Amino acid sequence: MKPKIELHLHLEGAAPPAFIRSLAKQKKMDLSGLFNEDGSYKFTDFWHFLKVYEAAVTTLQRPEDFYALTLAVLEESAKSGVVYSESFLSPDFCGNRDVSAWKEYLHAIEEAAAKAETDFGITLRGIITCIRHFGPDKARQTARCAAETKGRFITGFGIAGDEKIGAPKDFRYAFDMAREAGLRLTAHAGEWGGPTSVRDAIKDLRVERIGHGARAIEDMALVEEIAETGIVLELCPGSNVALGIFPTFRQHPIGEMYRRGVKVTISTDDPPFFHTTMEREYQMLHEAFDWDDGVFAGIARTSLDAAFCDADTKAAIMKKLEAADA
Ligand code: ADE
Ligand code: ZN
Repeated sequence: MKPKIELHLHLEGAAPPAFIRSLAKQKKMDLSGLFNEDGSYKFTDFWHFLKVYEAAVTTLQRPEDFYALTLAVLEESAKSGVVYSESFLSPDFCGNRDVSAWKEYLHAIEEAAAKAETDFGITLRGIITCIRHFGPDKARQTARCAAETKGRFITGFGIAGDEKIGAPKDFRYAFDMAREAGLRLTAHAGEWGGPTSVRDAIKDLRVERIGHGARAIEDMALVEEIAETGIVLELCPGSNVALGIFPTFRQHPIGEMYRRGVKVTISTDDPPFFHTTMEREYQMLHEAFDWDDGVFAGIARTSLDAAFCDADTKAAIMKKLEAADA
């Protein structure tokens, strides 16, 4: 299997539904309304997805739960050939943004990551993410958690959540704080918002990567600017198709953006919610655009180049990519 680099994965969003169900059972919580009869997550649209997501997360109550979650998620990613993963971690769901509680959760996540590295050959790094619909004050507290725990493992800061609420500039303070602490920056934009949302995230938050960014395609001048400035797009085609933003993989803008020289990368976002895996994303993109091993190898290098980890980690991962090409 080809080694893959994933830059956009929400840790809680990657929780297998059976994992959440077993935590709910342990804790005697009735979350049956969150699941279909076949056991998959049940939601009707993105906003309902956010509600189901946040309800599922209520089962994750202790650092040990996050240890088990991290291990389960990384085992699944490794099955798709992912050798390096950057995952969004949310202090909103780990100790309510309290820095000392957050440190305990982080410790558990890092311990699980170390075990996964040994057992499954996958390296994890964390990007702390605030949640847009929780508002700028909470984002500031989240940025403080990020600034206090920046290091080899916590490499970046970002924002997820409902893009239709508020504006990037509302979160400038949080992003400035994270940047001053030396964190690298990314922001969800151009998923539910159009080109203006992407432009504002670039201008107001000064991010070097955009989470999704797919709807930049509605403004070719913006696509050109993104290609020229080298801003990296963390595209998640399967997520966008599952949520109905684009009808099929063939109609997803990743093909056109790649042709126009945009630095595109491939991720799964919240794989069990969207019935996808990195292996499936690669297969669907191969079928949609006839991309071959050479294209995917190039995208893996673009992704590694755009990763927020330190140079030593990058060099070790690069060896894995090179070994696969040899
Ligand atoms: N949080 C988890 N998945 C998300 C998505 N696709 N967009 C915005 N916020 C999210
Ligand atoms: Zn996302």
